[in-house]
Amino acid sequence: MNTDVRAVAAQALDQIARGGVSLRSAFAQAAPRLADARDRALLSALLHEGARWWLRYDAVLDRLLQKPLRGREPVVHALLVLGLVQLAVLGLPEYAAVAGTVEAARALKRPQLAGLVNAVLRRFLRERAALDAAVGRDRVAHSAHPPWLVQELAADWPDDIDAVLAANNAAAALTLRVNRRRASRADLVERLLAAGHAAAPHAWLADAVVLEESTDVTALPGYAQGHFSVQDGAAQLAPELLDLADGQRVLDACAAPGGKTAHCLEHHALDLLALDRDPERLNQVRDNLARLGLQATLAAGDAAEPQAWWDGRPFDRILLDAPCSATGVIRRQPDIRLHRRGGDIARLAAEQQRLLDALWPLLRPGGRLVYATCSVLRRENQQQIEAFLARTPQAAARAAVPPRFGRAAGAGRQNLPGGDGMDGFFYAIVEKQA
Ligand SMILES: C[S@@+](CC[C@H](N)C(=O)[O-])C[C@H]1O[C@@H](n2cnc3c(N)ncnc32)[C@H](O)[C@@H]1O
Repeated sequence: MNTDVRAVAAQALDQIARGGVSLRSAFAQAAPRLADARDRALLSALLHEGARWWLRYDAVLDRLLQKPLRGREPVVHALLVLGLVQLAVLGLPEYAAVAGTVEAARALKRPQLAGLVNAVLRRFLRERAALDAAVGRDRVAHSAHPPWLVQELAADWPDDIDAVLAANNAAAALTLRVNRRRASRADLVERLLAAGHAAAPHAWLADAVVLEESTDVTALPGYAQGHFSVQDGAAQLAPELLDLADGQRVLDACAAPGGKTAHCLEHHALDLLALDRDPERLNQVRDNLARLGLQATLAAGDAAEPQAWWDGRPFDRILLDAPCSATGVIRRQPDIRLHRRGGDIARLAAEQQRLLDALWPLLRPGGRLVYATCSVLRRENQQQIEAFLARTPQAAARAAVPPRFGRAAGAGRQNLPGGDGMDGFFYAIVEKQA
């Protein structure tokens, strides 16, 4: 068994970049091959930064190699990307990064390429300023975002694109949501501080605690007891925007893994149906609710086919946290930029439209639907809602998303990644006129 962390990381990164495997599952498959916890932490850092910066260092390698390796030796190509990431992004000591990467070429049974790996990394160190300058002239390579996404962002956010690209390349704080049924936020912060974690209450979100550094949350005090969950601040607005009250009948139409379902139930005693199309992801909802001590009715089904799961009783509130491009959470899931394609956006927008139209009749007159995405693209957000309002006579937008969240975007509000330290997110509130 190959237990060299850099060799294992190169194989996993190749699967992510070339094989379309998600970072999460590539890590889950690779991590058990490493016995040492420090090796697993390095693997995680290598995969996150390798996926984040792939498009940049892939382009840099074209300048460092006479004949590209990506076609004939894709795992060594991924190893070289990781070598550059160790030097330029992770700031590992040069000797450790170079020697470790050369050793990994041997562990990958490519001893004939060890000399090349060594030469390429040393040349990078010598010519780094010139290479950085050359890459700096190309927005795609410089920012390590695919061309289609750079174009979409330039069209949608011409004044903000550089800030968005930079935020996607920066580390994000870890945000927790206290389970107010089991713990108070002040207590949680105190316990985290006592355990040596720099934790602070969020400035204006009532349940959020921000940790400066990422850590294994399952090892934090209170995790097993369900005192908190991990959830970015931008995702912590659902109970407020839904304007919940005890006893309401609520549909969370795209519920898995259950972050917003749980948050709503932590606030109010609800008759809540948590629906998701993916039965495996629905199991995560079940597990999360069990850990947090919460209860909902769970159902697997296509939200746009209510005849298969709806009992005909209207809902007071509907949350449509729609499937989307996830372009607002790239800083946390850097592999999105490698896997998402420009052509996906029209398909996603059509799916969001199908969901909106199918769910609307299930809302009682006077009821409220909250539409949310973790996208920053206008076609999925403000244009989607504007078109819905235009074709739906009884639908009226409510300007109730708090003005401190993001910026006005048509009938809703949009936060761009990094804004207020939070993920990119869009919310709109639509009420059904009685
Ligand atoms: C953005 S995630 C939801 C996150 C969740 N609301 C939370 O806060 O944890 C979108 C979810 O929609 C589900 N989904 C996609 N299309 C669906 C459909 N047509 N009907 C029901 N669920 C769907 C996906 O399986 C995925 O779990």
